[in-house]
Amino acid sequence: MKKIFVLILTILTTMMFAACGNDTEGSSSNSDSSTQMQKEAEQPAPVPTKSDTKILVAYFSRPGENYQVGYITKGNTHIVADMIAEATGADMFEIKTVKPYPEAYQECTDIAKQEQMDNARPEIAGKVEDMSKYDTIFLGYPIWWSDMPMAVYTFLESYDFSGKTIIPFCTSAGDYMTGKEVHIPEFAKGATMRDGIGIFGKECQDNPDKVRETVTNWLKNLGF
Ligand SMILES: Cc1cc2nc3c(=O)[nH]c(=O)nc-3n(C[C@H](O)[C@H](O)[C@H](O)COP(=O)(O)O)c2cc1C
Repeated sequence: MKKIFVLILTILTTMMFAACGNDTEGSSSNSDSSTQMQKEAEQPAPVPTKSDTKILVAYFSRPGENYQVGYITKGNTHIVADMIAEATGADMFEIKTVKPYPEAYQECTDIAKQEQMDNARPEIAGKVEDMSKYDTIFLGYPIWWSDMPMAVYTFLESYDFSGKTIIPFCTSAGDYMTGKEVHIPEFAKGATMRDGIGIFGKECQDNPDKVRETVTNWLKNLGF
């Protein structure tokens, strides 16, 4: 009797261990694969290398004396442009006029106003080396008199944008995007456009970490 009892006990104990063993195995492989999946989900999308990028960040920005920020050595839009290029691995092109704008704020606003009234197309220094290789162009500019600086129109009229997507971003003293950006495809022939973002210019100088967070979230929503 005692022997039978010991035998039953042994069988039961063996079965229990076997069950536990399977469980442990199962849960460990589940947790291994879920950890793996979690790790994969946490991985950022691979940033393209410089040689194969199809993204261009083209921006206009003016250092010097500016509204709310005093004298700055790097323009607000330039700061945002760098953030976008860093996050996406994009190439960069600065939309710079042959004739530079004055560093003095008031003088600059007067010239900008006149150019706007004249519907001017200020000449741009340099060219994008090979526009055909890009399919996405982030277009950055400061708001000047509720619009884009006229040199940005020169830029848009200088290339064939067929099949390309333009994504605008701007900085301002509070106007954010003014609605003028919806006309971009009328000047950039062939381009389609996606939703842009307007950033408070002063924040780029005072709180770049916060701006970076905003820009990163915006890019993520766009799928970058
Ligand atoms: C000529 C000129 C006109 C401007 N007009 C406006 C405007 O209409 N609305 C606005 O919110 N900010 C305006 N600003 C402020 C700029 O948009 C803002 O300071 C911007 O962040 C400057 O960007 P940047 O440093 O990249 O040039 C103007 C600034 C300048 C120099």
